[in-house]
Amino acid sequence: MSSVHLNGRTVPVDAAPDTPLLWVLRDHLGMTGTKFGCGMALCGACTVHVDGVPTRSCITPLSAVQGKSVTTIEGIDGKVAHAVQAAWDKLQVPQCGYCQSGQVMAATALLARTPRPSDADIDAAMSGNLCRCGTYARIRAAIHDAAATLGGGA
Ligand code: FES
Ligand code: FES
Repeated sequence: MSSVHLNGRTVPVDAAPDTPLLWVLRDHLGMTGTKFGCGMALCGACTVHVDGVPTRSCITPLSAVQGKSVTTIEGIDGKVAHAVQAAWDKLQVPQCGYCQSGQVMAATALLARTPRPSDADIDAAMSGNLCRCGTYARIRAAIHDAAATLGGGA
């Protein structure tokens, strides 16, 4: 029996160590806010935080997160996450929504390490998160809005 430290608490997981974290989250723990897109680290839909670092859960085995903190869209909290969520809502970023939990996780990690991101910073941080609905302009605007709320802003 393995375990995972997820969203602030340690939960047991009856899964093989090489099971992708994404399947652990969705199938074993019922955390379905994290999405499957490609399964090959190409789209970003499955992005979670591992010790605060945006991570593709589709290619991350359960064994790789032992002793680390995993945060999913269901568990993000704090002023940066709240500013990002408020900006996403204010600017009505999502279309179909499928990519958006990954986008929010990537944006939150960016603002946590770079409070005043430039457009280039945003493009670099977000380029691995694809959106087939083309919400990129609103994502960029929402990140700037969240930065301004947090007292940064480019
Ligand atoms: S599902 Fe993980 S990057 Fe696409
Ligand atoms: S909002 Fe539809 S894929 Fe991004």
